[in-house]
Amino acid sequence: MQIPSSAELVFVATQAALQAGELLKRGFGTSFVIESKPGKQNLVTEYDKASEKCIISSILNHFPNHSFLAEESGTTQNAESAVLWIIDPLDGTVNFAHGIPMFSISIAAAINKEIVAGVVFQPLTNELFIAQKGKGAYLNGSRLQVSKNSSLNDDVMLATGFPYNADENPGHCIDQFAHLTQLGIPIRRLGSAAIDLSYLAAGRFDAYWEVTLHPWDMAAGKLLVEEAGGKVTHFDGSAHQIFCHASMLATNSRLHHEMIHHLTHFKHWKSTP
Ligand code: IPD
Ligand code: CA
Ligand code: CA
Repeated sequence: MQIPSSAELVFVATQAALQAGELLKRGFGTSFVIESKPGKQNLVTEYDKASEKCIISSILNHFPNHSFLAEESGTTQNAESAVLWIIDPLDGTVNFAHGIPMFSISIAAAINKEIVAGVVFQPLTNELFIAQKGKGAYLNGSRLQVSKNSSLNDDVMLATGFPYNADENPGHCIDQFAHLTQLGIPIRRLGSAAIDLSYLAAGRFDAYWEVTLHPWDMAAGKLLVEEAGGKVTHFDGSAHQIFCHASMLATNSRLHHEMIHHLTHFKHWKSTP
């Protein structure tokens, strides 16, 4: 089976993200069905499902034999395909469900498990972030570069998120959030990991950390950060794997060491990646 180029994959991901973005824009602020998933306040709306169907059918129109890992429908494996699409049809569902205009669509494509294309689209701001392995990261056509701050004493802005099971998950990021906030460092919690990573790639954030993310939350965003010159690891600095639920630290690279020092300051992180 012929393997598409990363440029073709980005093109198809972009078409799918723009179509799903129109759908989410139409749904945002209307009344729609909201259901619960496991975990506290972990919601899914009819728009998560509709967006996912729209994205998958748009990709299948171009590539009928590819494999998929999508948040709402799970895995659709084609043993003959080297390409796996990793899709979050609505990242920031809790925001969307509450009428808060901060959500995105995240689509990545991996060839033989290596992420080579990533697209994050924020429909309400019309911001399209794309990355191609080895070819850079772009926002609406302009090349992205991470920030240049080299110390947390500089004029930095950090981002984090908290897992849906924070009540039973000791590595919930709250103690690290409190610790860094007490140092007087500004931190945002936007509610969309894909946007957090895209903003880091764009130099709006200097560092971002979170735990218990899924591959669809971070696959596209991780490539964006790396292609914009940033660095992504687990909290202990080891090579980041998107297919495990361990921690994620993404920085502009210059702050990586200092962030590891602060994040692993807490006992329960000493032995956990
Ligand atoms: C969530 C968002 C949020 C992060 C959660 C994710 P969802 O994804 O990315 O920022 O803190 O861990 O699960 O549920 O809105 O697709
Ligand atoms: Ca998500
Ligand atoms: Ca989602």
